Amino acid sequence: MPSDVEYSPVGEGLGMWDFWLYVCLRRAAVMAAHITGLGLTLILSLLSRPGTSLFSWHPVCMSVGYCLCMTEGILLFSAEGSLFCCKSRKSKVRLHWLCQALVLVAAATGLGFILASKNVSELPHLVSWHSLLGCCTLASTALQAGFGLCMIFHKQLRLSSPPPRLKLYHATCGLVVYLLATVTVTSAMFSDWYQATVKGAAWWVFLLLPLFPSLVVMNQITNAYLRRKKITS
Ligand code: HEM
Repeated sequence: MPSDVEYSPVGEGLGMWDFWLYVCLRRAAVMAAHITGLGLTLILSLLSRPGTSLFSWHPVCMSVGYCLCMTEGILLFSAEGSLFCCKSRKSKVRLHWLCQALVLVAAATGLGFILASKNVSELPHLVSWHSLLGCCTLASTALQAGFGLCMIFHKQLRLSSPPPRLKLYHATCGLVVYLLATVTVTSAMFSDWYQATVKGAAWWVFLLLPLFPSLVVMNQITNAYLRRKKITS
């Protein structure tokens, strides 16, 4: 590593009151991210009336996977308000990969349902922005899981990349996955089905919901990994 690199943890250099204000605001933001992530999952699951058709399970599985499990799997590392009471880094990492494994299961099941639904109703595949973005999200999720496995089984796989570099790849790819998932969920709100289900002011309010957890999660990832090193020269 070059010597012109300086560590600048977030919050450093603030006065006592500024620091407490920063901590309180961050705690409130993280809490709001938990609530909006869970709220969005419940709203989408209720709106799709699971069990009424093959399609109805697609929004349920995708929202449980991405809006709930992925959000919680990342927020549990947040110092300001994880819903999980485990304190040690080891248990957090275990819980993290458990949540991410659930994301993979939910995403694969959700994909299975939408493919089956389209096949049964003989509709063409991959004809909307949502479906194309969905495929990018699924591919990047699989890539991200691969980086995660490389980090866990680093020694067994005898990888030449050092763990800090793998961590950086994992964090960067995580950022991309979360961004793509947010855009995909938002694009679903422009589908004919969703626009026929949700109308008026509620549509605009629900459109903003995925933004909130994504801003908090992306801020957490960049603060933890990507903004740490500041080039001073
Ligand atoms: C990140 C989460 C999601 C992913 C990765 C995803 C992925 C996909 C994919 C790949 C398709 C296309 C299947 C095909 O063309 O054969 C699709 C279709 C569809 N999805 Fe999602 N989806 C997600 C979330 C949602 C949510 C939350 C809703 C409902 C609010 C939804 C509603 C739909 C609808 C209505 C279709 C059929 C119309 C179309 O192809 O655009 N999806 N999804």
